[in-house]
Amino acid sequence: MKITLSVIKADIGGHVGHSSSHPAILEIARNILQDEKNKGFLIDFYVTACGDDLQLIMTHQHGVDNKDVHAMAWDTFKKCTEKAKELKLYGAGQDLLKDTFSGNLKGMGPGVAELEFEERKSEPVIIFMADKTEPGAWNIPLYKMFADPFSTAGLVIDSEMHGGFTFEVHDVIENKKVELKCPEEIYDLLALIGQPGRYVIKHVYRTSDKLYAVSTSTSRLSLIAGKYVGKDDPVMFVRAQHGLPAVGEVLEGFAHPWIVAGWMRGSHHGPFMPVGVEDATPSRFDGPPRVMALGFQLANGMLGMPRDMLKDKSFDKARWEALKIADILRRQGPFEPHRLGPEEMEYTTLPAVKKKLKNRFQDI
Ligand code: 13P
Ligand code: 13P
Ligand code: MG
Ligand code: MG
Repeated sequence: MKITLSVIKADIGGHVGHSSSHPAILEIARNILQDEKNKGFLIDFYVTACGDDLQLIMTHQHGVDNKDVHAMAWDTFKKCTEKAKELKLYGAGQDLLKDTFSGNLKGMGPGVAELEFEERKSEPVIIFMADKTEPGAWNIPLYKMFADPFSTAGLVIDSEMHGGFTFEVHDVIENKKVELKCPEEIYDLLALIGQPGRYVIKHVYRTSDKLYAVSTSTSRLSLIAGKYVGKDDPVMFVRAQHGLPAVGEVLEGFAHPWIVAGWMRGSHHGPFMPVGVEDATPSRFDGPPRVMALGFQLANGMLGMPRDMLKDKSFDKARWEALKIADILRRQGPFEPHRLGPEEMEYTTLPAVKKKLKNRFQDI
């Protein structure tokens, strides 16, 4: 059975500040998607939030980039925004950057990760959702899962994975893409994805049979809006097991808190802290950046009962390490590299501050 998994997210308002989502908003989204399921438009759905980002997880049979699916998600975000405005939630409708829907969510603000695939005999899928960071935050974990044999044992010992994986990398500045085959082109891949503000992994597929295992959201809000309007807060999902990394090998990508861009005002580097759903509430200095993960065992397109994958005790040390890194970076205050470099700060309110000083500079 061929199904499409669509994970579509948007920040439509924070409660309180940018720290979390209001239950009334999730309820509206659930009611709308339930109607669509009753009508038979969706096979199944699950609504949740990561920090102040509303997450619509949906299965259907309309394929990727489907106009009606995207329009439905857009309308859902719009209706949620009405409520967010009524409750005066912070940054109501923050990620809806355009006024009218034009056939596809690409370039409109919301993040989209989608794949159409034949459901396997058993189909474990892990959906990762982040707050207070950008799409390049997935680069290291995806590299660990699909290209690093010290992280994923299956790359060495599973003959079905031995042929390696191909990474589709997007240049989000020039709007170009390139495919790199690993392990053969690992060094080329790293040359690009080591610059996560520009090069982001969009898809990963098994090279031998082009079985797609990963889809990520790649929208960069500041590049669309031309100014800082909140961070991108990306999503991605990873299919696991049976010739793909095992669930534990997928999760191993988050065993350490990688340092990512985002955090306060989207302007600081901070540790990417793996948490359970309940703890996806960035608070200290609006952070540190969070990642949560829901695992599903798809059955004929039905999502079934989700599992809170990063809540597990085995990630306690990563959380503790993240808090330690948070302390170290925070001590640096307004100084780089805690504060992002000038290229990224270009989109924030910092250039306006610098402009005020312009006339006071004298030649040396
Ligand atoms: P089980 O023996 O529990 O099925 O685990 C197999 C496996 O490959 C774990 O990574
Ligand atoms: P969000 O992108 O999650 O809305 O956060 C914005 C921000 O400026 C946090 O300090
Ligand atoms: Mg927000
Ligand atoms: Mg957010």
